[in-house]
Formats: sequence, C-alpha cells, structure tokens
Amino acid sequence: MTMLVRPAVAADQEAILALARGERLNPTDLDWPRFFVAEHQGVLVGAVQMRLHRDGARELGTLVVAPQARNQGVAARLIGTLLSHNRGRVFMVTGRKHAQHYARWGFSPIRPCQAPRGVSRNYWMGTCAGYVFATLQRRPRNPLVILDRVTAA
Ligand SMILES: CC(C)(COP(=O)(O)OP(=O)(O)OC[C@H]1O[C@@H](n2cnc3c(N)ncnc32)[C@H](O)[C@@H]1OP(=O)(O)O)[C@@H](O)C(=O)NCCC(=O)NCCS
Repeated sequence: MTMLVRPAVAADQEAILALARGERLNPTDLDWPRFFVAEHQGVLVGAVQMRLHRDGARELGTLVVAPQARNQGVAARLIGTLLSHNRGRVFMVTGRKHAQHYARWGFSPIRPCQAPRGVSRNYWMGTCAGYVFATLQRRPRNPLVILDRVTAA
C-alpha cells in the first residue's frame, strides 16, 4: 500500500473529525494542527495527534485508521512519525488488552494516580463512556489502561 504520512493541514479537518467520530473516540480537542495523517491515493485513511495538556503533559491520542486500511501497518507508521517529532515523555490511554502492542515504542502501564491530571481525566472519561456503551450494546467491556513512555529528551 503506497501511503504518505504527513503533518495535517487545515483542509484535513473534516476528514479527521469523520475518522474520530466513526470510532466514537474522545471528541474533544480534535484540531488539525496537532495531527499527523496518513493518505492513500488522495484519501485520508488514518490520523493520530499529540494532545498537549495544561500541565505540559503530552498524550498520544485519536489514533484511528479507516477500516479498509487496517492491519497494513498504517497505525505503526503514524505512531513512529509522531514520536520521532516528539521526544521525551509521552502518555497514552488504550484498551488493556492491546497494551502490550505498544511496548515496542517503549510504552508501559502505570496506575491512573501516577498520571498527570489531564491524562487521568481522559482515562476516567473513556472508562465511563466505555461502560455506558458496553451496557447499552450488551457487549463485554474493554477496560482501559494508561501507558507511559519515558525516553531521553
Ligand atoms: C487500532 C487501530 C488504529 C490499528 O490500526 P492499524 O493500521 O490496523 O494498525 P497496524 O496495522 O499498525 O497494527 C495492527 C496491530 O494493531 C494492534 N492493535 C493495537 N491496538 C488496537 C486496537 N485498539 N484495536 C485493534 N487492534 C489494535 C492489533 O492487535 C495488530 O497487532 P498485530 O500486528 O500484532 O496483530 C485501528 O484498528 C483503529 O482505528 N481502531 C479503532 C480506533 C481505536 O481503537 N483506536 C485506538 C485507540 S488507542
């Protein structure tokens, strides 16, 4: 799959929103300037952003790949590109069952009380939303975990 990973531009905003909303990801702070996107034949097929919290903490978020482009390494390329532009400590919130997948980039689990306030707030918001959707849809819950990546600045 020929794919271009690049910083987002203003014209990508609607496609970023559509990708994020399509997967019911955290709907806050979806402004294009913090995003990298993956493009295939002129179509946006993936996105990821670095959220910047008020306390300075950075959180890899809104990782999403269009269903037709999955399992071809698009997310891995987005993560690699984002992290190569953001050295130092980065957090992320993900499903507990997928936590081990992110060890290859140096992420490891921490307890919510060990995370900066903005990151733990997103964790609790996601946990509550996940609980509500799982209950309404009668599906098993996918508990979340906070991951921490500490590297040299
Ligand atoms: C998670 C997601 C971005 C992966 O995109 P992708 O381009 O298919 O990922 P890659 O091809 O780089 O890697 C596939 C791997 O991601 C893993 N993975 C990590 N997190 C995952 C998740 N939340 N859901 C599904 N697979 C996930 C898969 O297990 C697979 O691992 P394997 O290669 O060892 O089998 C994509 O499935 C997606 O958009 N899901 C919906 C939104 C979401 O759950 N985002 C994650 C928030 S942290």
